[in-house]
Amino acid sequence: MIIAVDGPSGSGKSSTARGVATRLGLRFLDTGAMYRAVTWSAVEHGLDLDDTAAVAQRARDLRLEISTDPGHQFVIADGTDVTAAIREPRISEVVSKIATNLEVRKELIRRQRAVIDNAQPSGGIVVEGRDIATVVATDAELKVLLTADQEARMARRGAEVGSLTAEQLRDQIIRRDADDSTVSEFQVASDGAVTIDSTYMTLEEVIDAISRLAKE
Ligand code: ADP
Ligand code: CDP
Repeated sequence: MIIAVDGPSGSGKSSTARGVATRLGLRFLDTGAMYRAVTWSAVEHGLDLDDTAAVAQRARDLRLEISTDPGHQFVIADGTDVTAAIREPRISEVVSKIATNLEVRKELIRRQRAVIDNAQPSGGIVVEGRDIATVVATDAELKVLLTADQEARMARRGAEVGSLTAEQLRDQIIRRDADDSTVSEFQVASDGAVTIDSTYMTLEEVIDAISRLAKE
């Protein structure tokens, strides 16, 4: 069983996908955390982020351990626990630059497919990101496109990271959406995907809706 949850920043992908995995006893993969970990590593190594070849090499060399336990999430990059560091604004501000590097995408998609394969003996996995239904796991049994109005997404991010200024919030949501939309796979609606607009739904309601669809 593979459940794919795609959508823009702040639509609720991580929290709902984690909730669905917990409820259905499945593994959980946050693919955005992998792009963030490569970004962290490139920054840490002082790389020029416009040097696509150097950044791609970093992605291939990076030892990356990512938890698929929905109850205990962590990311370890080259032996360092970066679970918190990858969420810092300095990473969010530049992650799209790394995510639009096609060689980085190739490497991370390969790793994501390996994680998905490994999870099958234990029942399956909920995978969240941007291109899961269209690229990473086109054979997913359930494909969900999670959306929410820009205002709702900004308000959610704001409530979560209280210290952000209005400008940083806009940068994290609107500018990042615009940068991410240059990746062609994000613009394609996947065959058979169910769109859920979470603007006026609670987290529980979204988890209920996806869990119900998974049992159909
Ligand atoms: P994404 O992974 O799409 O960026 P998150 O899952 O990180 O989104 O959600 C961003 C924030 O919004 C979190 O604080 C989360 O608890 C909250 N949230 C998620 N879904 C909803 C919802 N349906 N209603 C209200 N808040 C939500
Ligand atoms: O939680 P939020 O939506 O803010 O970001 P994220 O899911 O942690 O993803 C961070 C960034 O990684 C996104 O802005 C995309 O640039 C990139 N990403 C991607 O390219 N492909 C994915 N499958 C997931 C994330």
